[in-house]
Amino acid sequence: LIKVFAALGAGYLLGSISSAILVGKAYGKDIREFGSKSAGLTNTLRVLGKSAALFVLVGDILKGVVACLIGLYLGVYASSGAAVDSVSMLAAGAGAIVGHNWPVFFGFRGGKGDLTSAAVLFMLDPIIALSCFGSFVLIVAATSFVSLGSICAALLFVGLSFIPVFGHTLYFQIFALVMAFIVVSKHRTNIGRLLCGTENKLSF
Ligand code: G3P
Repeated sequence: LIKVFAALGAGYLLGSISSAILVGKAYGKDIREFGSKSAGLTNTLRVLGKSAALFVLVGDILKGVVACLIGLYLGVYASSGAAVDSVSMLAAGAGAIVGHNWPVFFGFRGGKGDLTSAAVLFMLDPIIALSCFGSFVLIVAATSFVSLGSICAALLFVGLSFIPVFGHTLYFQIFALVMAFIVVSKHRTNIGRLLCGTENKLSF
């Protein structure tokens, strides 16, 4: 249990390193005061442009990957039937997402965690991750709403995690439910705008 909490803590600290806020500082702006006010990739692209967004893309993916590698290294596993999952990796990944959204280094005001969640998901199960990413790309291409793509991908992740062929434990399914709950609740204002027809489209 100590290793699981260590994974959670390490993930949280890593996730709290907000590349969007850091790159914003380099541009002399607090990204959380502009655009959708979210410290994430989409808003960085919207407010600061492509070079800044590239930094955020790499930074947010990297922290999810490194957190998962730490969790993997700590090596706490759970199994049920033929299914085996690294619980320490799930904890580190969850920590990174929570840190990204509520960063201890930046007053607990961060982003919505989509990109970090995606990176964690690729580390946990690349097949499920690719399916979710595919649905994200299709939805964004069809509607130009990044938020809608993110929400649908998170919900698909929950659905797929319960399909026996993917062979995941209850720990993985709980992680999926928590992650999707976080993504959907972080998109509350986006959902409101989507329902009113006023959500920002991806056009920079
Ligand atoms: O990843 C965040 C995206 O789903 C929405 O971002 O800035 O449009 O609220 P934003």
